[in-house]
Amino acid sequence: MDFDKDKAIALLNKIMELELAGVVRYTHYSLMVYGYNRIPVVEWLQKQAEEGLLHAHKAGELVTLLGGYPSLAIGPLLEKHHQDIGDILRESLAHESESCAAYYQLLELTQGKSVLLEDYARSLIVEEEMHADEVNKMLRRTGKTGVYEIPKS
Ligand SMILES: [Fe+2]
Repeated sequence: MDFDKDKAIALLNKIMELELAGVVRYTHYSLMVYGYNRIPVVEWLQKQAEEGLLHAHKAGELVTLLGGYPSLAIGPLLEKHHQDIGDILRESLAHESESCAAYYQLLELTQGKSVLLEDYARSLIVEEEMHADEVNKMLRRTGKTGVYEIPKS
């Protein structure tokens, strides 16, 4: 193995923690949506929670593949209580970019050194970026195609 295994395990554990935090966050959000759009939005949020759990499992499998100990911790949870779907989506976009950054770090660490981990990191980056795009498009206004930018607070 030509890469720093301990670093890879630490990154995979971080990914696992972030994904598990996503499971809790999306589950919570899915219970907090009311109004006309409730049904499809709740369904979408539940799907995100399930996907996060799948991603956490995948990261955990790779931690143990490398002989590491899977983390029992969980990443950051809710920052505040949200009033509307826009707030929920903006918070989710910010968190997703954090996990995407962790996948990029893993890619950087393993590229050209482990087909398994490189391929894993790449495919998850594709998934996460497509997901972020989905959220981004939900934050746009009809008729405006420009990429949504989170306002700086
Ligand atoms: Fe994910």
